[in-house]
Amino acid sequence: MERIEIYDTTLRDGEQSPGCSLNDEEKMRIAKQLEQLGVDVIEAGFPASSPDDFKAVRDIANEIKDSTVTGLARCMKNDIDACWEALKGTENPRVHVFIATSPIHMACKLKKKPEEVLEMAVQSVKYAKRFFPQVEFSAEDASRSDMAFLIKVVEAAIKAGATVINLPDTVGYATPKEYGDMFRYIRDHVSDSDRVCFSCHCHNDLGMATANTLASVEAGVRQIECTVNGVGERAGNVALEEAGVALHVRKDVFHAATRLNLKEIKRTSDMVSQLMHSPIQANKAIVGANAFAHEAGIHQDGVLKNPRTYEIMSPSMIGLDQTRLVLGKHSGRHALVEKASELGIHIPDDAVNTYFQAFKKMADSQKTISDDDLISFFRKEKMSI
Ligand code: KIV
Ligand code: ZN
Repeated sequence: MERIEIYDTTLRDGEQSPGCSLNDEEKMRIAKQLEQLGVDVIEAGFPASSPDDFKAVRDIANEIKDSTVTGLARCMKNDIDACWEALKGTENPRVHVFIATSPIHMACKLKKKPEEVLEMAVQSVKYAKRFFPQVEFSAEDASRSDMAFLIKVVEAAIKAGATVINLPDTVGYATPKEYGDMFRYIRDHVSDSDRVCFSCHCHNDLGMATANTLASVEAGVRQIECTVNGVGERAGNVALEEAGVALHVRKDVFHAATRLNLKEIKRTSDMVSQLMHSPIQANKAIVGANAFAHEAGIHQDGVLKNPRTYEIMSPSMIGLDQTRLVLGKHSGRHALVEKASELGIHIPDDAVNTYFQAFKKMADSQKTISDDDLISFFRKEKMSI
């Protein structure tokens, strides 16, 4: 099994999503929960961006013991200094420096020539290395960069002392094959590439963040950057719970293991959703309200006979109590009897058909049927049967 490090950026990239900002106390609660969850690295903020971010990174770094805490810095001395001030009290401190390498970012955003960007990357990694034993270097918009230039930058960053090389799909544009191939190509063509850990960082603009992340693991990436519930800029980042659980459930394919305590997934997801005021869509993989719910009669019957018929993982694995049988117009007899029994109501065998016909009539006229609806239904039917 290959060991995959989980790098959580909920408190930095995730907090950049509109309406999701957090106060210091909320950030600390989430950081402690991420530590419980077993993430390897917590990117707690961007210290140079504001006094609040600086304080949050420093306080979290001083509190968290079982995860490495890091902060983001542009390729600028001031940013790296702010990270050092915030992180210098920690064991094995790590900084994350980044600069864009794609033609459009260099020309339109940075207004710099490629050689200038290369020089800034080298000088910044060298400068960061004076303080930090661990230096992560990110080539922002790597997936839209010229590969020959990317090789130069990555090779120079490694030579300057980078220990982790992150190649983000900043705008969620790459396909899984392209993203995996990029890592293969870079690892094959950069000298000393085996001295560093390669990291992925996927955005979800085309809904491919999880697929891209997993494709990069197959191409040798050993660190996954992600956020809880996939919060983040625009369509968000890859969701920690999707990548983490996929690696676990499909270890037959990925041959990889993380340090995640999966039973903490649901608790972490609920906390982030609540504190960021960011509701989770019902059909969201792993943590959506319907992820372990079954309405169709054939599915309910199968799950009651053996949960593995329609569940590829058990809800308890992520810290959920149980599978939810949702009664509705597609439900069958078996589910009605089971649900009634959960509510303490026994339906005698010879009455099942009569109850079921009456139930179907009610279900046809209602979108959802709550436990209370069902209890009133049984009271009413009992009187008339
Ligand atoms: O999406 C991105 O490229 C980033 C970098 C700062 C790593 O968030
Ligand atoms: Zn990002």
